[in-house]
Amino acid sequence: MEIIKSIEKLRKVLWEHRKAGKSIGFVPTMGYLHEGHLNLVRQARKDNDIVVVSIFVNPTQFGEGEDFDSYPRDLERDASLCEKEGVDYIFAPDTHEMYPDGAPLVYVDVLKLSDHLCGRFRPGHFRGVLTVVAKLFNIVMPDRAYFGKKDIQQLRIIMQMVKDLNFPIEIVPVETTREPDGLAMSSRNTYLSPEERAVAPRIYESLKEGFQIIKDGERDATKVVEHILEKLEAIPGARPQYVQIVSWDDMQPVKELKDGIYVLATAVFLGPARLIDNIRFKIEGGDVDVY
Ligand code: PAF
Repeated sequence: MEIIKSIEKLRKVLWEHRKAGKSIGFVPTMGYLHEGHLNLVRQARKDNDIVVVSIFVNPTQFGEGEDFDSYPRDLERDASLCEKEGVDYIFAPDTHEMYPDGAPLVYVDVLKLSDHLCGRFRPGHFRGVLTVVAKLFNIVMPDRAYFGKKDIQQLRIIMQMVKDLNFPIEIVPVETTREPDGLAMSSRNTYLSPEERAVAPRIYESLKEGFQIIKDGERDATKVVEHILEKLEAIPGARPQYVQIVSWDDMQPVKELKDGIYVLATAVFLGPARLIDNIRFKIEGGDVDVY
């Protein structure tokens, strides 16, 4: 495994593999890798000849007062985890390599799909994500790129970018990886105190309870959301930012649940950590299933 910091060098190396007919799988990350990232890597390892993992804490997707400076970083640890999983290249550019002129003058932006959920509370976040992912796609030129379903709005928006801007890349969604007690894995879980960590699984439990109500026949989205909010507010130290049910197609909130694909999602502040989680599901003729 090689750690490459320069765009030019990575392009050269990958060009040789491409010429030799090798397929390239790409896992973009901000580092501080956990089992969730490693599951993306494992899937990429299965599907491709060459696996590239990028590690870059992207400043353009953090808002004022967010955790860009305190975001955990440990390249040495990440490199040893990647090596064990058979990664071929880590691309770990510094900020100057990715943004030599400082903040870019040209961005990739999204309409509508970022109006709700996290997009509503993190203005400019998805613009920053799309811009860096587009840059990384242009640098790596992978055949496939792997994204976790925990960041469901990010996944939805990147799928749309690939479609609307004709990137010749297959986006492969990977299931959320959870701790044994159900908490979705996240680099931000490291911010939790032992007391906060102990109650954090109740976020997913609350979503599951809401989902069960839908399975039992409730079709009024507001009632489900209210039930979940009540549960979340009862978690000591938790401050829910939002609970919403949106349609998968346009990421707009719905009132009545009919046949279709939906995302039930939440963001909750627990101490210093902002934790997100979701359940994507499909309703088809009375059947409700995780999707
Ligand atoms: O999901 C992440 O870790 C980041 O948003 C991504 C896709 C690596 C872009 O910086």
